[in-house]
Amino acid sequence: MPSIIMGVETSCDETGVGLVRLHDDGTVELLADEVASSVEEHARFGGVVPEVASRAHLEAMAPTVRRAFESAGLELSDVDAVAVTVGPGLAGALLVGVAAAKAYAAALDVPLYGVNHLAGHIAVDTLEHGPLPSPCLALLVSGGHTQLLRVDHIASKITEIGSTVDDAAGEAYDKVARLLGLPYPGGPPIDKAAKSGDAQAIAFPRGMTGPRDAKFDFSFSGLKTAVARWVEATESRGEQVPVADVAASFQEAVADVLTAKAVRAATESGIGTLVISGGVAANSRLSALARQRCAEAGIELRVPRPRLCTDNGAMIAALGAHVVAAGCAPSAMDLSANPALPV
Ligand code: KG4
Ligand code: ZN
Repeated sequence: MPSIIMGVETSCDETGVGLVRLHDDGTVELLADEVASSVEEHARFGGVVPEVASRAHLEAMAPTVRRAFESAGLELSDVDAVAVTVGPGLAGALLVGVAAAKAYAAALDVPLYGVNHLAGHIAVDTLEHGPLPSPCLALLVSGGHTQLLRVDHIASKITEIGSTVDDAAGEAYDKVARLLGLPYPGGPPIDKAAKSGDAQAIAFPRGMTGPRDAKFDFSFSGLKTAVARWVEATESRGEQVPVADVAASFQEAVADVLTAKAVRAATESGIGTLVISGGVAANSRLSALARQRCAEAGIELRVPRPRLCTDNGAMIAALGAHVVAAGCAPSAMDLSANPALPV
């Protein structure tokens, strides 16, 4: 069975290269996780510019690969399989990673595995907390996605049981940060500002929690609009916007809805483990509230460390290892990107 797996991630603005070792007992060990981000080049536009991201991936790929092998103390020839994100993500950005992964797989004469970015966000947790119990529930919260997923097997059976009907949770963070004059990406500065604010100061709406709303779907665009109206109204009275209070109250509304629905989904499906991953899982209030509510409901909570929650290559290498361990067939060399790949 291949044991050293290289993972390549380029779905958005991070060029990620990870290396893992698949052990005979099915456990996966992290050997290297190198990320080059083009986030600063996008910051002045307030969001990711696809063309800029693709070009940055091209420039960063070879140096990031080199750094990963140096930090693991490995040679390229040690690689037994290459895994790469085929989607979902930005078409041009994905294509850079797919082309690079094909070149490495062909040059090294090893199998190539095209894998799903969303499944990678869940698989990364096995690097920190060991094999996933089956079934488990995953709350995936990132800049592009907000989904509740039932995971029966990380490599072969993941079913969506709920998703956002409009904005992703991370997108809401980014938009609200902009309203408050905080930099992009908005999650980290809102998280920081909220620490000195009062989370009960403003009662922002909790979307999709009415009796007639789909049980496990989410909506964040109404919350974003409510924050915008509140800020506008405050400014029109000539008052200063209390940034910390707005940040804390907004953050509380997001964490409340996400954790309430995730815990309810786990309880109603009789699932004993919840994994929270994706960039927004790095949020301090989300993990604290999830910890409290999971403990009350008797659910085991797994949250990878923040560095593994945001996009990286280790998550793709980890998923590749599980795909290899499951005996899945390698991808053909004419593999292409699929920007709208479902989970
Ligand atoms: O998973 P990720 O790195 O990329 C995507 O696949 O989208 O997630 C990026 C998102 C951004 O929207 C960013 O604002 C958000 O994750 N984020 C956070 C925090 N750190 C990153 N949101 C809330 N709190 C944080 N501490
Ligand atoms: Zn992601």
